[in-house]
Amino acid sequence: MPRHVLAALLVAASFTANADTVRIDIRTDAPIGRINPNVYGQFVEHLGRGIYGGIWVGPDSEIPNQDGYRIDVLQALKELEVPLMRWPGGCFADQYHWRDGIGPADARVARLNASWGGVIEPNTFGTHEFFNLAEILGAQTYLNFNVATGTAREAIEWLEYITSDSASALANERRANGRDEPWKIDYYSIGNETWGCGGNMRPSFYADEYARFATFLNVPGAQPKRIVSGSYEGNIDYSREILENRGVTDRAEGISVHFYTLPTGDWGKKGAGMGFPEAEWISTIERTQRMDGIITEQLEMIDAADIDGEFQLYVDEWGMWVDPPADGPGGVLYQQNTIRDAVVAAVNLNIFHDYADRVPMTNIAQMVNVLQAMILTDGPRMLRTPTYHVFNLYKPFRNAEALPVAATPPAYRHAETSVPALSISAARHDDGRLVLAIVNVDPGTAHEIDLGDTWNVISANVLAGDAMDAHNTFEAPDKVRPVRAEVGDRARRIPAPPASVTVLELAR
Ligand code: AHR
Repeated sequence: MPRHVLAALLVAASFTANADTVRIDIRTDAPIGRINPNVYGQFVEHLGRGIYGGIWVGPDSEIPNQDGYRIDVLQALKELEVPLMRWPGGCFADQYHWRDGIGPADARVARLNASWGGVIEPNTFGTHEFFNLAEILGAQTYLNFNVATGTAREAIEWLEYITSDSASALANERRANGRDEPWKIDYYSIGNETWGCGGNMRPSFYADEYARFATFLNVPGAQPKRIVSGSYEGNIDYSREILENRGVTDRAEGISVHFYTLPTGDWGKKGAGMGFPEAEWISTIERTQRMDGIITEQLEMIDAADIDGEFQLYVDEWGMWVDPPADGPGGVLYQQNTIRDAVVAAVNLNIFHDYADRVPMTNIAQMVNVLQAMILTDGPRMLRTPTYHVFNLYKPFRNAEALPVAATPPAYRHAETSVPALSISAARHDDGRLVLAIVNVDPGTAHEIDLGDTWNVISANVLAGDAMDAHNTFEAPDKVRPVRAEVGDRARRIPAPPASVTVLELAR
């Protein structure tokens, strides 16, 4: 049974809550596992204005920059303490040839980005620019190898160029290009969505390709964690068949799954990012809550594969995907980000915490200007999105020990659909303090949380909006931002306003 709903059922008989006060029981006796900071990872693809204009403007730009990286974006990302970045795709990874993106900028090779709009890919952001960015941010790195249009030799040479400390020709070439020390790759994947944009491969074919590449992709010393590219939501049989191949499972530490939240569930008409009806608010919540069942199903599939040693699940793409807006600065897969996105982000993070022992890394798609972004830019202007604020508020969860929370959430209903109105997550720091997140997904009804006698509130911050599509604009970039909640000193009853995310620090 999915873990996020299980807690609610466990306690259903133990508390009687009145209409809008929900008693919770934080189960300090049953820790789930430490929340790996990489659960807060971010995806950076050569797509739309994600990199060019979003992160990278080049050293000659009039937009203030540090060696080509936008200073405003760098500053916002530093505050966020980005733990991990996945690059260069996505679909783009399977058309990326790393040699196009090294050496003097004016000698780099311009190509067509056939995956995303056929625009010119100048390759001025390449290996050095990605790994240097990771160093500036103190982020771990996740590299996606090209298995569909690249060769094993190309991948092996890229790995050596990045990681070798030897006197090999490739390591010396890196040095000649300005980088003496090798960089560290923390995770890699061989291929991306190989059932679709990554080559439309049958699972057995991809499994053989994975094993062939992985045989040679070895780093002396600290080997990166190796990730098999797996299912999208429903096509779990794809992953199941890959994991039947011991050539794969002997050379991997985990498998990925991708799942996007589409308001309508229809790829042909996904639903608007703003100005949507309540029917699409609740359908969005209902769909995003499916992440819980998807993870459970994937873990059962992994367990049934009977793999030696620890084998993890990586949700290496997730987030909101809506139809492109009619106005705004534009770019492929650019979309506005509202309080609905914030609620979706928080619900997903709460679900990931419930699997802290089995899901050590996820990547929201994507970091800047693409899909459910942290940051939006328009020329020299920049704003932090409601999703950014959720990631910032949730920082205290990193490295804390996830705890189950038993509660009986009231239902939020609209028309024929009904979902639990509250999503709650708790975690314990080594000094005994707790962090608690309460998400009220109901856009019309406030609720109240009763902490019981054990815990007192030390601090509380709440992110809410005045409409279902409340958002920040370049003219009003701080309209939706967290505020300290008025819960009173050492309060035990916490208000959860409609459509809000509240993060509290608790002590005994
Ligand atoms: O994040 C956008 C795209 O979604 C990625 O390139 C691909 O892997 C997925 O289909």
